[in-house]
Amino acid sequence: MSFDEFSADEMPKHVAIIMDGNGRWAKQQGKNRLEGHESGAIAVRRTVEAAAKLGIKHLTLYAFSTENWKRPKVEVSTLMTLLVRNLRRELERMTKNNIRLSAIGSLSKLPNKVRHELQEVIEKTQSNTGTNLTLALSYGAREEIKQAVIDISKKVKNSIINVESIDETIINEHLYTQNLPDVDLLIRTSGEVRISNFLLWQIAYAELYFTDVMWPEFDEHELNRAIKSYLKRERRFGKTSEQLT
Ligand code: FPP
Repeated sequence: MSFDEFSADEMPKHVAIIMDGNGRWAKQQGKNRLEGHESGAIAVRRTVEAAAKLGIKHLTLYAFSTENWKRPKVEVSTLMTLLVRNLRRELERMTKNNIRLSAIGSLSKLPNKVRHELQEVIEKTQSNTGTNLTLALSYGAREEIKQAVIDISKKVKNSIINVESIDETIINEHLYTQNLPDVDLLIRTSGEVRISNFLLWQIAYAELYFTDVMWPEFDEHELNRAIKSYLKRERRFGKTSEQLT
């Protein structure tokens, strides 16, 4: 199966990935967890460039969840340092590959250094027109939905929005992902079969793909396999097969 036989319309527009298994991969290799995250960062680069090559318009990566703050201090600080280092290092390649960076999550909770580096790369890649890479950082879907409810409620209270006019579009506009389309394909690595508080609203009709491959081993071949699986599926959005033809 080659991608040439598919039109751009059939390809997933928004791919989201739960990058899991850094720690277990490291253990299997007789390394420590932190080395697993280092290798995970290299897999991020490979995957972003493979997605750009395929013309995927939106790629969202779960890099740090609201729950990840509960990990040992040294692991949290290693992840933050890795982020800063990679953002700095990747700017040139992102520009060369026409990649635009965005971030979603409770970004105010991130250390200043991460926030500043993030802001700089976001600004410097803002006019790139290729793949939009969104990093979910200090992200939790329940927190995102809670925040949207609070913001909408305040607007109702101040008569900016009528209760009767609240619809899915208004809710979308109040989520961190307001500028992104719904997720078409959600990938999770490492054999775990759960969603872990990631994009709960946005994956309502996503195709789910779970692989046993650990994140540090994920690459272009694995991304292509996931997309080929997606392309074989019939997305009915609640309709019957007959209605689709
Ligand atoms: C899950 O593996 C991975 C994370 C919690 C963090 C993801 C971070 C990276 C891929 C590296 C840096 C990211 C960027 C964007 C440069 P885990 O530690 O939960 O693995 P385990 O379940 O095997 O313990």
